[in-house]
Amino acid sequence: MEFTIREAATLEDALATEELQIAAWNFSDREVVPHSSMIVARHTGGLVALAWVGDRPAGFVYGLAACEGDRRWQHSHMLAVHPDFQGTGVAPALKWFQRDWARKRGVGLVTWTFDPLLTKNARLNFGKLGAYADTYYQDFYGVRTGLYAGLPADRLYVKWELDHPRVVARATGAVPPPPEPEGEPLNVTAGEGPDLRPERLLEPKAERVYLEVPRDIEAMKRHDLALARAWRLHTREAFKTAFAQGYRAVELARRGPRVYYQLEKAPR
Ligand SMILES: CC(C)(COP(=O)(O)OP(=O)(O)OC[C@H]1O[C@@H](n2cnc3c(N)ncnc32)[C@H](O)[C@@H]1OP(=O)(O)O)[C@@H](O)C(=O)NCCC(=O)NCCS
Repeated sequence: MEFTIREAATLEDALATEELQIAAWNFSDREVVPHSSMIVARHTGGLVALAWVGDRPAGFVYGLAACEGDRRWQHSHMLAVHPDFQGTGVAPALKWFQRDWARKRGVGLVTWTFDPLLTKNARLNFGKLGAYADTYYQDFYGVRTGLYAGLPADRLYVKWELDHPRVVARATGAVPPPPEPEGEPLNVTAGEGPDLRPERLLEPKAERVYLEVPRDIEAMKRHDLALARAWRLHTREAFKTAFAQGYRAVELARRGPRVYYQLEKAPR
């Protein structure tokens, strides 16, 4: 499918991001980030770019200028692809556009947050883009609607170091297929629900460990919300414990129908 990516330039472009949010997230009106915030972001060193299929908006990326002390980076608040165009390469293309845009302005880091139970996003963030996460935010946003309804709004904080070898390799070459996990995950599924074995998380020797997550949290939420919530609480503890041990999440691995985060000891 042919698409082009351009920075937002007009009022219509900014308004199109509102419609895309409703299509991608099914947000309630009051949760939609208004077009005025998109316009402000562009005027304060941020990025708003849209993907177009002909004259149809297909997706957008929205990043804010971020700074702390002397450090400057971009915090990417939103990435969305209209359901009609998901799975067609628009999402990674928007992110690579964002990388080029940031590097041209001397920005070497882009950060964002995402729900670790959304495994499609994890595959994109880690496998395709080469980002990593070493920080867990518990209930970052409070109650949400649409795609995020029903579970506490926990998030992984993703760091995309734009000139990191993992990122450069993916920007210039083929994206590796999801790796097969080696061995058993730290958390094992017992019967119907997750069963965390904390003692297995307290084995700091392994350089690489795995954490299992549900394959399709959306379907689980529809059929068994209590089980989905149990997975949220369980993976919250598992990620927090692993990060406190010095691990970072670097990949999403799959074996048959099961899905695992791959965590590795951060370089010291
Ligand atoms: C997240 C989003 C931008 C991704 O766009 P997309 O077009 O669906 O993504 P892509 O198809 O390019 O990439 C997703 C990858 O995950 C894989 N994937 C799909 N479902 C998966 C699942 N349940 N588990 C693991 N991987 C999965 C895809 O196969 C693809 O990898 P591949 O190309 O190696 O096969 C889009 O789904 C969206 O707008 N979602 C709603 C808004 C959102 O969550 N935004 C991001 C948080 S701010």
